Amino acid sequence: MAPLSFFYVLVPFLLFLTPALSTNSEGNALHALRSRLSDPTNVLQSWDPTLVNPCTWFHVTCDSNSHVIRLDLGNSNISGTLGSELGELKHLQYLELYRNEIGGKIPKALGKLKNLVSMDLYENRFEGEIPKSLSKLKSLRFLRLSNNKLTGSIPRELTNLSNLKVFDVSNNNLCGTVPVDGPFATFPMESFENNRLNGPELKGLVPYDFGC
Ligand SMILES: *[C@@H]1O[C@H](CO)[C@@H](O)[C@H](O)[C@H]1NC(C)=O
Ligand SMILES: *[C@@H]1O[C@H](CO)[C@@H](O)[C@H](O)[C@H]1NC(C)=O
Repeated sequence: MAPLSFFYVLVPFLLFLTPALSTNSEGNALHALRSRLSDPTNVLQSWDPTLVNPCTWFHVTCDSNSHVIRLDLGNSNISGTLGSELGELKHLQYLELYRNEIGGKIPKALGKLKNLVSMDLYENRFEGEIPKSLSKLKSLRFLRLSNNKLTGSIPRELTNLSNLKVFDVSNNNLCGTVPVDGPFATFPMESFENNRLNGPELKGLVPYDFGC
């Protein structure tokens, strides 16, 4: 075969394959997640990596283009940790992992989930700091991280999340002051209670890692 005709056959073929490859990468990301988790009540049993995409798996919802838009694993008795592969779920809108026993750090890579509307990680065992990268989630409306073991200060960058309607970090081990700018002007005190926080930030001063 002449090199040029090979090109004309190969390029359309590769373009045809691309959508399948990208949905498969979402299945691969979810399968990598599964491998990090302990699942004593077999909630993830239907997660079969040999299927063409993860859209028929229980607790996973796709849009009409077979992209994963929801992960619903609240109250699922799962433990283990999350990894950076979750950042591959580029179309994800709802990350619901509340009321489990998941520990370790909240991966920085979650800042890649540009379409995320809701991140519910409350009532788990997450530790370490709240990643600054979450300030890149411009669509985020609900961020609930309460009842974990998070430390450090509340990243000031989160004040840029202009769509944020609900923010809850109560019952953690956070320190420093509470931001007052942007959406933080509207969040109730209850969102911050039971931490080592020093109360609202004072305008004009920059004491936010004071006491951390
Ligand atoms: C979680 O574990 C409890 C106790 O073992 C069980 O009753 C419940 O059905 C489990 N939940 C799920 C979603 O499997
Ligand atoms: C976001 O917040 C940080 C810290 O408060 C600020 O320096 C930055 O300019 C803001 N804007 C964007 C688009 O990140």
